[in-house]
Amino acid sequence: MPQLSVIVPTFNETDNVVELRNRVAAALEGIDWEMIFVDDDSPDGTAEALRAMAQADRRVRCIQRVGRRGLSTACIEGMLASSAPVVAVIDADLQHDENLLPKMLETLDREPLDVVVGSRYVDDGGVGNWDASRAATSRFATRLARLVLKADLQDPMSGFFMIRHDAFLACLRAGMSGVGFKILLDLFATSPTPLRFKELPYEFRNRVAGESKLDSNVAWEYFIMLLDKFTHGVVPIRFIAFSLVGGLGLLVHLAVLTVLFKFQGTPFVWAQAAATMVAMTSNFVLNNVLTYRDLRLRGWAFVRGWFSFVLACGVGAFANVGVAVYLYQYDSLWLSSAIAGVLVGAVWNYAVTAVYTWKAPKVA
Ligand code: GDD
Ligand code: MN
Repeated sequence: MPQLSVIVPTFNETDNVVELRNRVAAALEGIDWEMIFVDDDSPDGTAEALRAMAQADRRVRCIQRVGRRGLSTACIEGMLASSAPVVAVIDADLQHDENLLPKMLETLDREPLDVVVGSRYVDDGGVGNWDASRAATSRFATRLARLVLKADLQDPMSGFFMIRHDAFLACLRAGMSGVGFKILLDLFATSPTPLRFKELPYEFRNRVAGESKLDSNVAWEYFIMLLDKFTHGVVPIRFIAFSLVGGLGLLVHLAVLTVLFKFQGTPFVWAQAAATMVAMTSNFVLNNVLTYRDLRLRGWAFVRGWFSFVLACGVGAFANVGVAVYLYQYDSLWLSSAIAGVLVGAVWNYAVTAVYTWKAPKVA
């Protein structure tokens, strides 16, 4: 029976997975382990490479998710597939030091702990030769994280850690966000009881093969997750993202309107109509890459999605004006009437587009 499951999220890591498996196997000599890779249908054929490896070694498995994306949810699903009392999460790209695994397991066995974190920010840990801007960004994000953390963790952004399976399940049941990259932070911020933890230093390595998936979306998802923790999950996380995008849309609308109406002298009706179309389109595009990144529409699905989005928001606009006018006639409080109208419109747009524009796939 495996003592330890090593969970590895992968996206386009064909050139790393075999090497990672060999290194982990060498590091965990004498320990009963298994490796569960979770691949989001990487176009480079990572899943095929993983299945070939699994055919040669029963301790290796591949969960392939189709039509989904997300580092955190991949780790969560991998951990859920484990029967071992302890699970570790490690990146596939060889940037984390697999030689730390035995020491992590030993520490977890010996001391009354729930989590052992591979940390870049304690003792002789380090970030290798990151450039100044990436190091500064990481430090800033770490400082933000401390606002929602219930623990004095030096490296809450680490993607390399080991946790007891029961502690993980308790966090998951308490309502983890599962958004973005920062699963460790999610665990700590969600845990119903403070997690007992220890940080062990390691030196973050440079990536040799493949590319990092860290992009501006990751920053956005991080921000959304922090908001989710602040609001204690009362507001659906996608609705928060959708509303932020909506706020940006208002600015876009006003900008286009100002240019057309004020500077170009376009008649107000046309200027307002054009501004509405531009704002709806930019909202659609932004929601597609930010709010619904994991269900992102492309090709014809994108065109169809745009059409349904515009249709839904058109009806939403009627609902908005209808409610606002009705309330205004009733009590003449213009501001609260307007806000109520906007809210009703926003909830309508969100609910309808969540069902018709960005449908979750039927399986997976
Ligand atoms: N299944 C799946 N789905 N895996 C993914 C996805 C995804 O959408 N995006 C990334 N991965 C996998 C990558 O293949 C890699 O194995 C791992 O997640 C980390 O992705 P990188 O793109 O290499 O991220 P990074 O090196 O910039 O950041 C990592 O290290 C930091 C420091 O420990 C992440 O683990 C961060 O969370 C961590 O803070
Ligand atoms: Mn990496």
